[in-house]
This record gives sequence, C-alpha cells and structure tokens, in this order.
Amino acid sequence: MSRTLLIIKPDATERHLIGHIINRLEKAHFTIREMRMVRLTTEDARKFYAVHKERPFYNSLVEFMTSGPVVPIMLEKENAVADLRTLVGATNPEEAVCGSIRNEIGLNVEKNSVHASDSDENAAIELSFFFDESQ
Ligand code: RTP
Ligand code: MG
Repeated sequence: MSRTLLIIKPDATERHLIGHIINRLEKAHFTIREMRMVRLTTEDARKFYAVHKERPFYNSLVEFMTSGPVVPIMLEKENAVADLRTLVGATNPEEAVCGSIRNEIGLNVEKNSVHASDSDENAAIELSFFFDESQ
C-alpha cells in the first residue's frame, strides 16, 4: 500500500463538487485516511507551490489557491501516486483523457479542480504539509 495527496481546489469547492470528487475517489478504490477543509494563506500557498516559483503562472496560482477553501485528502491504495495521476488526468482539462476528473469538471489549465502528488517523495513531503502523521 502507498499514500498520496489529493487537494480539492477552490473552483471545485465553490461549485459544490466535494462530494462528487470523493465519490470518484472511492469508486476507484482509494481509501481516505485523513481529510481536512482549510483556507490557505498566501504564505502557505507560496510554500506549497515553491517548486513553481520561477514559472510565469506562479503568482496567479497562489492567488487562485487562496481564493476559497480547499480540501486536502490523504489517500491510500496500491500504486497510489500513479493511479491517482491517471484518475485526475492531464493539467489542462482539454487535454485530459475522457473520463478523468479534470476532463469531467476542470474549467481551464489553472482552475483544474484537483491537485495530485507527482511522486512518492513529493507525496510524503506534501502530506506532511497538511497532516501530522503522514507515514
Ligand atoms: P498539480 O500539481 O496541481 O496536481 O497539477 P499538475 O502536476 O498537473 O501541474 P503542475 O505543472 O504541477 O502545475 C501546478 C498547477 O499550476 C496551475 N497551472 N497553471 N496557467 C498555466 O499555464 C498553468 N500551468 C499550471 C494548475 O492549477 C496546475 O495544476
Ligand atoms: Mg504538480
């Protein structure tokens, strides 16, 4: 079993899609181990997305991620990181495969409804950002 982090982003919490996303996760056989609802401060978001600080979309991303509540969820499954990335789909909803969460509900390349960790190493770092006992 391995663990990963999904975050329901502000565009999805605003559209009342929390339950829908959780339902998709459970249907795909992910087990929810921890879950919170939080409003990120600018400092939190800058720190969480520090890897992107040189990218042109960084400031806009930080503004978006602090614009409303987000729901970080600790998920467990065999092959959790890769399977969640597949379920979530490509960054741009228009390029995400049919049936993926972003293709279904994402609005655009920024407001793409969910975040998913991209490696086991980053999953551990990102889980510890939101949850005390991530391992
Ligand atoms: P995430 O980290 O949220 O799971 O998304 P990802 O791996 O698919 O994409 P990444 O390259 O890590 O980008 C992080 C988030 O930044 C926003 N973004 N905006 N305007 C743009 O061109 C652009 N590109 C990325 C998205 O919210 C993306 O999920
Ligand atoms: Mg990423």
